[in-house]
Amino acid sequence: MSLKISVVGTGYLGVTHAACMAELGFEVIGVDVDPAKIKALSAGKLPFHEPGLDRLLEKHVESGRLRFTTDYDEVASWADVHFIGVGTPQRADGHGADMRFVDASVTELATRIRGKALIVGKSTVPVGTARRLESIIGTHAHPDAQISLAWNPEFLREGFAVKDTMSPDRLVIGCTDAHSEETLRVIYAQALEANTPLIVTDFETAELVKVAANAFLATKISFINSFAEVTETIGGDITVLADALGYDARIGRKFLNAGVGFGGGCLPKDIRALQARTSELGLTHTMGFLAEVDEINLRRRERVVRLAQTMLKDQLAGAQIAVLGVTFKPDSDDVRDSPALDIAVRLFNAGAEVSVYDPKGNTNAAARFPRLNYAPDLAAAVQNADLVLLLTEWDEFKTLLPADLEPLVGARKIIDGRNVLNRSRWEAAGWELVGMGQHYTPLDGQL
Ligand code: UDX
Repeated sequence: MSLKISVVGTGYLGVTHAACMAELGFEVIGVDVDPAKIKALSAGKLPFHEPGLDRLLEKHVESGRLRFTTDYDEVASWADVHFIGVGTPQRADGHGADMRFVDASVTELATRIRGKALIVGKSTVPVGTARRLESIIGTHAHPDAQISLAWNPEFLREGFAVKDTMSPDRLVIGCTDAHSEETLRVIYAQALEANTPLIVTDFETAELVKVAANAFLATKISFINSFAEVTETIGGDITVLADALGYDARIGRKFLNAGVGFGGGCLPKDIRALQARTSELGLTHTMGFLAEVDEINLRRRERVVRLAQTMLKDQLAGAQIAVLGVTFKPDSDDVRDSPALDIAVRLFNAGAEVSVYDPKGNTNAAARFPRLNYAPDLAAAVQNADLVLLLTEWDEFKTLLPADLEPLVGARKIIDGRNVLNRSRWEAAGWELVGMGQHYTPLDGQL
């Protein structure tokens, strides 16, 4: 008998997992409390941008292998395995992760399940959550139910969500019984046949792998950005430094790109939640370095605003500024905690006329900050600009040449917030181009 799968939560993680499980051949149902989302998904419409996922969703909704509902009764009685992919956002008071959605979804399932079932946590959670959920299940489960729990963190990156789910770097399973492990081995058989490393461990380790990975990535980015602060002050080339460091196989070149810093729905909130959780455990100093990582990251945004101010000779008010890229990274329409959007808003608050263009992010950004001017294309955004800021490295921007902008802009000034433009080419064309980690001596005034 083939396993029937449910995925609870139809956000980024949930929809990707559901569609990929259908692609692996399983019958899948996705459940969410938001009827509008369920309606769109049931019509095969993806409510966000993710390369390749729209096609998978459409294909499997059409084939009938993937469907969506708001009805927990149906899900609990139909599926054998329930993946929990609901959000764990930062709490409103800023202290730790908000676990309401995880707790509610596990409770909803536990009260309804009869017979044998496996609940698999995928959301990023504070360590200790699985043990706590076991006791929630114990309290709410029907006497006729035999529910096991496993923890199987998800490492997918936006922009590569389908690839990361279908061919992950590794699979991690935290569990306390052989049956759970066996069931997950069946579900992930294809990846395991392709020799994907499998780590079977306890709940705590499985939960920690995810937050440790994100803390490490965030640290790597802030590490190189801290050196950007040094080269901005004394000189040096941050990209060459990163390249030279990266040749050491123990360090590696990935995630050593200096820029406007990290953002998105994961890294910023996860490093804050990890600090909150370890403090709760009495380890007040253990993750203290992550506070520095966070601060270095946020200083990048300030730096770009100051740079813009200096390049405009302290005349931010009334200046025409074009912002290229507003999502937290390319190939995504996600503007959550986006450094680019934050910089655009800070410039606007300082009195600049800000014109934003992003290939996919305008709509989401406009929903958050309707007062910025959202341009339909790059040409409209840079029209008459006194300064252009490239803040998200979409391909469309990486391949820009000075001649593309020259007939449109008001002044030949550009900040390369991702160090993707060829500086000598732009300087040869008479542009003032300032990148990240680059020492800049304004003709008048100090930075
Ligand atoms: C991240 C993790 O990579 C993923 O494993 C986890 O499951 C979720 O969080 P994601 O948020 O999609 O994924 O983005 P990621 O590709 O990690 O980039 C995060 C941020 O770091 C982006 O804002 C990106 O622009 C920035 N970044 C990345 C840098 O500033 N420099 C780099 O060298 C790399």
